Amino acid sequence: MSWALLLGLLAALLLLLLLTRRRSRRPGEPPLDVGSIPWLGYALEFGKDAASFLTRMKKKHGDIFTVLVGGRYVTVILDPHSYDAVVWEPRTKLDFHSYAVFLMERIFNVQLPHYNPNDEKAKMKPTLLHRDLQALTEAMYTNLCTVLLGDTTEMGSGWHEMGLFDFSYSFLLRAGFLTLYGVEALPRTPQSQAQDRSHSADVFHTFRQLDLLLPKLARGSLSAGDKDLMCRVKSRLWKLLAPARLASRAHRSSWLESYLLHLEEIGVSEEMRARALVLQLWATQGNMGPAAFWLLLFLLKNPEALAAVRTELEHSLSQEEQPVLQMTTLPQRVLDNLPVLDSVLNESLRLTAAPFITREVMVDLALPMADGREFALRRGDRLLLFPFLSPQRDPEIYTDPEVFRYNRFLNPDGSEKKDFYKDGKRLKNYSMPWGAGHNQCLGRGYAINSIKQFVVLVLTHFDLELISPDVVVPEFDLSRYGFGLMQPEHDVPIRYRLRL
Ligand code: HEM
Repeated sequence: MSWALLLGLLAALLLLLLLTRRRSRRPGEPPLDVGSIPWLGYALEFGKDAASFLTRMKKKHGDIFTVLVGGRYVTVILDPHSYDAVVWEPRTKLDFHSYAVFLMERIFNVQLPHYNPNDEKAKMKPTLLHRDLQALTEAMYTNLCTVLLGDTTEMGSGWHEMGLFDFSYSFLLRAGFLTLYGVEALPRTPQSQAQDRSHSADVFHTFRQLDLLLPKLARGSLSAGDKDLMCRVKSRLWKLLAPARLASRAHRSSWLESYLLHLEEIGVSEEMRARALVLQLWATQGNMGPAAFWLLLFLLKNPEALAAVRTELEHSLSQEEQPVLQMTTLPQRVLDNLPVLDSVLNESLRLTAAPFITREVMVDLALPMADGREFALRRGDRLLLFPFLSPQRDPEIYTDPEVFRYNRFLNPDGSEKKDFYKDGKRLKNYSMPWGAGHNQCLGRGYAINSIKQFVVLVLTHFDLELISPDVVVPEFDLSRYGFGLMQPEHDVPIRYRLRL
């Protein structure tokens, strides 16, 4: 037998030993379930349908357990009373960014020298709040008008047909891109707006191709053809968002200015900056459109809810001096005074927002649960909260949790309902579409304003209806982070026309 063959055999034997070596549960640790496939554990089941898998595990082990998923030990917590212990733990113990860095490098091919997420966050945070938030909201309304009203006017009067997901995703992402990354020219002219429409449509269509491939890329299951397409789509996006190309754009957000300055300060190359900007397009624009899709779909499927939103809107707008069709911005006081629409938004996010809240365990630590138990966590493991199952779809907290009830988040006096209970105790985190704690979504103010502006624009300027009113609300594939993946062939056909 040759040496090479012998060495190969030894390596294979060692690998087999490593794969079959099982970790055992130590005293004080959560129940451990490694499944029956060495190393992979439950990776396939988890990847296919995380919600069903975690529901099954919860029945088997209770609301805290550790599972093996593709070589990683993941401790899952499903008791919403205990979430605060995780989301407020300092970064030195439970780290949010390790997974973000993995995503950044593996999915978006971004490597930043001297990358310090805390520093980046400190610089970016102010650009999404207070006066900057107001500027973003105003720009968003103008850009929504440019793409939504402009496109429809260009297409001529009468009914137009498309899928509701495509409708919501494309208009929100295009307006969001123009808001954050800048427009063709200021003051706007009909020509510059036409360019904004075609450029943003190009960005959206290219981005959407990438969006559809990402879950496969994350699972490592791209075919050779997919890989080719992915390469082409990524390089097209890197060109579209190249800093040199963005340099001449007008009315760029302070978010973009600060981000570019930050990249420059840490010495990021021109090429890598373009990649980072594509990653940011996904991080900032990937969820608003899908969230707006679910909201509009629930309204179209629930005439009572739609009528309540319309009545509230008509009442609120009738207090304004200017008719809505002439408004160039929607006053913040209007946006802040729509409790029925807020309840509809909260309810549709409760039903559809499914982020995985993950943290890296940085040191061995004891995790206190709200009921007084304490569990030992091992350094190097991962922690996962999945609020989609509980609180959001927990029958103890919400009666008929699968059902859309537009007024679920309204008190009888019309104010926002915030008291929800589990095990007789009031919940602090009763719905978590934006996460919670140290790493709660920084863009939520901008996202909420944008979704509401979009819905107000659609309801005030358009007739919009389902082509088949009996259409079944589609199931979504949770393999896409956030709001599930919607394949174009499963989209819900609608028709819409500008109201004269
Ligand atoms: C419907 C739209 C959106 C949803 C549902 C959403 C959801 C979330 C969630 C769940 C997290 C926390 C993840 C965790 O704790 O593990 C998060 C974080 C974050 N989001 Fe959003 N997001 C949305 C839109 C936006 C937008 C528009 C922006 C910026 C313009 C943004 C910026 C951020 C940032 C910067 C973080 C990380 C915060 C940190 O580093 O601590 N998000 N988002």
